[in-house]
Amino acid sequence: MNTVVVGLQYGDEGKGKVIYYLCDSYDWVVRYQGGANAGHTVHINGAKYVLHQVPTGILRGKKCYIGNGCVVDVGALKQEIQDLQDQGVTVNPDLLSISPKAHVLFDTHIVTDIKNNGHIGTTNRGIGPAYSDKINRKGIRFDEYTKDLPAQHMWVGDYVKGRLDDLIESGNVLFEGAQGTMLDVDHGTYPYVTSSNTTSAAACTGTGFPITKIDQVIGVAKAYVTRVGEGPFNTRMSEKSENILREIGNEYGATTGRPRNCGWINLDDLEYASKINGVSKVYLTRLDTYFDFLNKADRPHMYLVDGRRVSLQHYNNFDEFVKECCGLVAARLNVKVSASIGPEEKDIVEL
Ligand code: IMP
Ligand code: MG
Repeated sequence: MNTVVVGLQYGDEGKGKVIYYLCDSYDWVVRYQGGANAGHTVHINGAKYVLHQVPTGILRGKKCYIGNGCVVDVGALKQEIQDLQDQGVTVNPDLLSISPKAHVLFDTHIVTDIKNNGHIGTTNRGIGPAYSDKINRKGIRFDEYTKDLPAQHMWVGDYVKGRLDDLIESGNVLFEGAQGTMLDVDHGTYPYVTSSNTTSAAACTGTGFPITKIDQVIGVAKAYVTRVGEGPFNTRMSEKSENILREIGNEYGATTGRPRNCGWINLDDLEYASKINGVSKVYLTRLDTYFDFLNKADRPHMYLVDGRRVSLQHYNNFDEFVKECCGLVAARLNVKVSASIGPEEKDIVEL
């Protein structure tokens, strides 16, 4: 089974947890777009792991691959590998490899990103400038970079290896999306987007994997919406509600620590995201957080449906509440919806 997992909102939907849960039954876990702008948080037995460039599968000892569609910051990758190893996770060139066609993200890209950032509110990880060089045919790919590695990055040579044939032969690949649909450079809220395609089709262009071999696309959505950085946010909450939710949900960026803006779920956007990704199943996350929040908010409601706010009926009983939320999304998107009701893998409930 070849499966693509994508975020259906503005990133930070809880993809890390869902991918960790799902990847147990896959041989490969593959990143295909983005770079160190991503922050995938996974809680395992009380310990917290934050991944930026290394696929989440590494936490289960799965074979991991960083595809050609990614822009890789070698210094940041070294630090991430070190941090994972310090937490007892095995990372080595047998488990992790980088496509020779992936692009190298240099410090100059970061400097340019910081200088130009202004109105977009990027993560300052150099993502836009690195993709600009790629599209402008001025980028340096790992095949070229490894011919003459700088002394401090000699180690990375061992990790660079094309694995496309292995992926195709395996036929059991989980493609790990980063960011979310509404941040897609083509289909998101342009220009307030990231500089890559975050939607499911990028799994193919970002690896070379044939489109005809993708079996399913799974979407991850949060029971409410968060957004970091600038851009339109039509269901943003009142400041008071937002502050309550941010604290309950610890809604601060995993990469930058910035406070995330919070809003009500928007089923119109979700339907759009589900349609363009070809999603057949959704995991609805942070239902525990949303439930706690609704019981503390002054006006417990609401979902946005057809531009209108509707009240939830069951915000007193948690089990009923979970069923109602998942039911609303399932009915609107016409897909199966399962729930995530806590930080750990065991908190994912197949409905
Ligand atoms: P960039 O990807 O750093 O260029 O940032 C572009 C926009 O995408 C900004 O609004 C960022 O806050 C947002 N963004 C990038 N990566 C992530 C992510 O992993 N989660 C949430 N937002 C992100
Ligand atoms: Mg994140």
